[in-house]
Amino acid sequence: ESSATRARVDSDLSDLSDAGGQRSHLLDIELSRLTKVCLLGKGAYGVVNLVEDPATQKRYALKSCSKGHVKRQFAQRQVCWERELLSMVDSPFVVRLHRTFKDAQHVYFLLEAALGGSLLEVLHLRQDVLVEDSPRGSSVAFYVACITAALEHLHERRIVHRDVKPENALLDCRGYAKLCDMGFARFVLGKTNTLVGTPDYMAPEVIDVPHFHDTSADWWSLGVLAFELLAGQTPFEDEGISDLSGRLLAIRRSQETGRLCFPFHFPKTCKDFVSKLLLKLPDRLGAAGGARDIRDHTMWKSMRFDFQAFSSRQMAS
Ligand code: ADE
Repeated sequence: ESSATRARVDSDLSDLSDAGGQRSHLLDIELSRLTKVCLLGKGAYGVVNLVEDPATQKRYALKSCSKGHVKRQFAQRQVCWERELLSMVDSPFVVRLHRTFKDAQHVYFLLEAALGGSLLEVLHLRQDVLVEDSPRGSSVAFYVACITAALEHLHERRIVHRDVKPENALLDCRGYAKLCDMGFARFVLGKTNTLVGTPDYMAPEVIDVPHFHDTSADWWSLGVLAFELLAGQTPFEDEGISDLSGRLLAIRRSQETGRLCFPFHFPKTCKDFVSKLLLKLPDRLGAAGGARDIRDHTMWKSMRFDFQAFSSRQMAS
């Protein structure tokens, strides 16, 4: 790590206290005034707590990233990127960043709280939700529609999420899915020298060429997510390998050689939809027309699902 890089990262972190401040009525909130309600989750970065502002009784998710973790250059960059990108985003399908704080030990993200659990919990604990069909369409279609609206919003701003997976889709109290965790997100024209994401959801071109990332890689991950919600498991095998580089190789081999193995109950139009998202070459569904490609797929017509009414513009709450 060069001193020039370190200096730049330090200066990036120096104004962490006012992200989102200009457009947020939460500028007046003081960190010390927030009271902890309970722990929501833990990760490599630190913890997420549910907190309450006693003045308004409003609740938020407070993500604390320990500076011990943030000291490492990669993690610092991640925090800076997450803050910068989240403050550009304003969609009911992306967890909202209200503002950021810092103190001697931590940097904090005050986020909208989405308290319905993640799609990972739905997959593991509430399979019944996923198999049931309503007259308007399945809940899998509903969640795919939410994530599509989120990706549409990000891609319109030239942001690629790069880590679409069930644990990064949180449900709010009305059951809508919201994309969270923008730590790996980047501008489309940006370049990184790191390989990020989670192997099972990574597009072939992202594994092959780590610098390369484009919006179509997010549509691939959506294909993996849709497959998993319908089948109960991801489509590509990691051969039980636990170390990251071994898993990546195994997943890449499986993408190349394996055929998509759809369970018998997979509806025909869903098979077509998922297969088109999981095309090995990046000219897959979504690449040319973005979210319009997704909406125009016949799957939605056969479900009588009104995708048109489901755009982030009309859903604004
Ligand atoms: N876990 C991580 N981020 C969260 C959020 N915004 N709401 C609820 N739980 C979370």
